[in-house]
Amino acid sequence: MEIIPEPFRIKMVEPISLISSQQRQRALKNANYNLFLLGSDEVFIDLLTDSGTGAMSDKQWAGLMVGDESYAGSRSFFHLQKKAQDVFNYHYILPTHQGRGAEQILFPALIEYRNCQNPIFISNYHFDTTAAHVEISGGKAINTPTPYAFDTTSSYDWKGNFDLNALAATIKQYGANRITAIITTITCNSTGGQPVSMDNMRAVYRLAQHHDIPVVIDAARFCENAWFIKQRESGYQDKTITAIIKEMFQYGDMLTLSAKKDSLVNIGGLCCIRDNETLFRNVQIRCIPQEGFITYGGLAGRDMEALAIGLHEAMDENFLNYRIAQVQFLGNLLLKADIPIQYPTGGHAVFVDAKILLPHIPSHQFPAQALANELYLEGGVRGTEIGSLLLGRDPQTKQQKISPFEFLRLAIPRRVYTKSHMEYVADCLVKVKARAKEIRGLTFSYEPPVLRHFTAHFKPCL
Ligand code: F0G
Repeated sequence: MEIIPEPFRIKMVEPISLISSQQRQRALKNANYNLFLLGSDEVFIDLLTDSGTGAMSDKQWAGLMVGDESYAGSRSFFHLQKKAQDVFNYHYILPTHQGRGAEQILFPALIEYRNCQNPIFISNYHFDTTAAHVEISGGKAINTPTPYAFDTTSSYDWKGNFDLNALAATIKQYGANRITAIITTITCNSTGGQPVSMDNMRAVYRLAQHHDIPVVIDAARFCENAWFIKQRESGYQDKTITAIIKEMFQYGDMLTLSAKKDSLVNIGGLCCIRDNETLFRNVQIRCIPQEGFITYGGLAGRDMEALAIGLHEAMDENFLNYRIAQVQFLGNLLLKADIPIQYPTGGHAVFVDAKILLPHIPSHQFPAQALANELYLEGGVRGTEIGSLLLGRDPQTKQQKISPFEFLRLAIPRRVYTKSHMEYVADCLVKVKARAKEIRGLTFSYEPPVLRHFTAHFKPCL
């Protein structure tokens, strides 16, 4: 494989250290076997998330110094607004404190605007907070991903795509009037940071337009998605990432953006609407009591400045080449050791298939959570479960929803870890694999009613 060195030099370092095996045992027990409840000093390599964990550039840090902290009409807001308008080609721009901030003000406004009874949202795959905000707004979240997404043993370029037939059938089943919106998540986090093709985005948009249903783009990892389109989709090899991004956003009417991912900031988000002024006014009104005034939306002026600069850096092709190669590098190390992963690797993380690695642990004992805990015990590496635990229960029936996959996600923060960190992680997982048969599942000792994975307590099954 081609070697792609980091396209940056390291100017500042943050020490990390590995506590002893005995201390890790104790820490995990004290955290009730939930890695979200560990202290970060108890973690050596933190692959819990790529969200808000990236390193800002010298230019972004310099931007913090010129942030304008005015409550209203901040210069930094206008800088951000212009940058976002340039990138996405949407007219209306609202900052929010992060992605879920955008979701919580947009979804109820959309339901009201569309006057939907028993509202339904359909997505290639709702992220967990996205599904939660749909449900909090009184809606139902339905996923219609391509069936290829669930087969980790075979390769497919677009495991983030919608299944267009399933999407059309779902619209027909419920009736277009009940569908508040279609949410195109790029890349599709839950199926493995997997890309959505331009062709699929276009087809989804056409179908939506045909039924007069708005399309929301959940844009957290939009640059990584554009990179895959450039690499894999015919007709895009000679286009710039900037041009591909512009085209992607033509196939949506509005977007929610967690800027903590591709946009390279530690906190921030956006809600942008192409041209629907009435809807935008409704969202603005909700923004003020929940996120903050319309020119800061829960962010400091310096955060908006860093975000305006981050949006620009995120689209740099040299950076994206290195970024996705690093994810692929870790994936390849695991594949070489016969560790099953979602293949090909996606944009921000390697997803280990715990269903295959730990076939003796049933889904209701959360095999991927058990695997995550073992990896922590092995080497202080923290990953996260994306499977039955995260999916949770049906809000009406309270039954565990059936998850099509049990993944351990190893999400790689941007511009933070090096190649040898990746080698170390792979080495730890190889050691865990060697004792896979001894690993036991988990049961709840405390189960919160919503978004349970964040704060649940577990005990090992006997
Ligand atoms: N949409 C997607 C696809 C996401 O991955 C996330 C967050 C959000 C929306 C919500 O954004 O965190 O800024 O409020 N994903 C993180 C993760 C938390 O670890 O994948 P947020």
